[in-house]
Amino acid sequence: MWKKILGLGASKREKDLVSLYDRVPKEKRPRHIAIIMDGNGRWAEGKGLIRTAGHRAGVGTLRDILHVCVDLGIEVLTVYAFSTENWKRPRPEVDFLMSLFSEYLEKEIQEMEDNHVRLRFLGREDGMSEALLGKMHAAEARLAGNDGLQFNIAANYGGQDEILRAVRTLAARARAGEVAPEDIDETMLAGALDTAGQPPVDLVIRTSGDLRLSNFLLWQAAYAEFWFTETNWPDFTPEEFVGALVDFAQRKRRFGGLNPSDGK
Ligand code: FPP
Repeated sequence: MWKKILGLGASKREKDLVSLYDRVPKEKRPRHIAIIMDGNGRWAEGKGLIRTAGHRAGVGTLRDILHVCVDLGIEVLTVYAFSTENWKRPRPEVDFLMSLFSEYLEKEIQEMEDNHVRLRFLGREDGMSEALLGKMHAAEARLAGNDGLQFNIAANYGGQDEILRAVRTLAARARAGEVAPEDIDETMLAGALDTAGQPPVDLVIRTSGDLRLSNFLLWQAAYAEFWFTETNWPDFTPEEFVGALVDFAQRKRRFGGLNPSDGK
């Protein structure tokens, strides 16, 4: 259980939340959850605030969802924090997001460490400042020895770009004679992605009503289940998140095959 979430003085809401966990049977919990945290801007605009207020509010939601994932023993949580396309946003918003990532690392790392979280950034490094990259690398290194939840933050990330980088890595290895082109298979390609060594995505959650993947984890989500909500990310609650997991637990996954009961 996430340290501090329960304990003496735990609020009724926290107790009620923990009692909801039983509705998601352990063997039916997704191993890898990926979240598109959309709707920060709309949330802020709806309240007459500037867009960046939505991003700041979104950090609080991320914190809560990370807690719940630790509590439930989820293996991997990946969140989409900044896409390779997000550089097209106005410079002040981009700068705000970069400083928010930096602040987040400073403020949250101790709690991540206390809760045995491992951290990995997915995506490209070019374009990020040296100062931010330094903090990202230091945070990854500090949490590398942990054995709890694997937390991936996709920042300056695009799924097509990730696959392209992996293909280039393998092509270079082939040119160097380290691998024969005909030996390149799905496992080898998966091992050259930013998520190397991690299980594929079981569940993609997207908030704020849009029904698309937006270049997120294209390879890893090949057999993922999708769950969408109209709720904007800052308003997304742990209770709604657990509801998504309850729904996931009821899905029949066939991975291209047949369920035993479907066989004729
Ligand atoms: C999409 O909402 C959200 C983003 C581009 C940024 C997500 C970042 C956070 C939730 C901040 C916290 C993250 C970390 C890792 C500290 P949008 O701005 O596209 O919303 P809109 O579609 O309503 O405009």
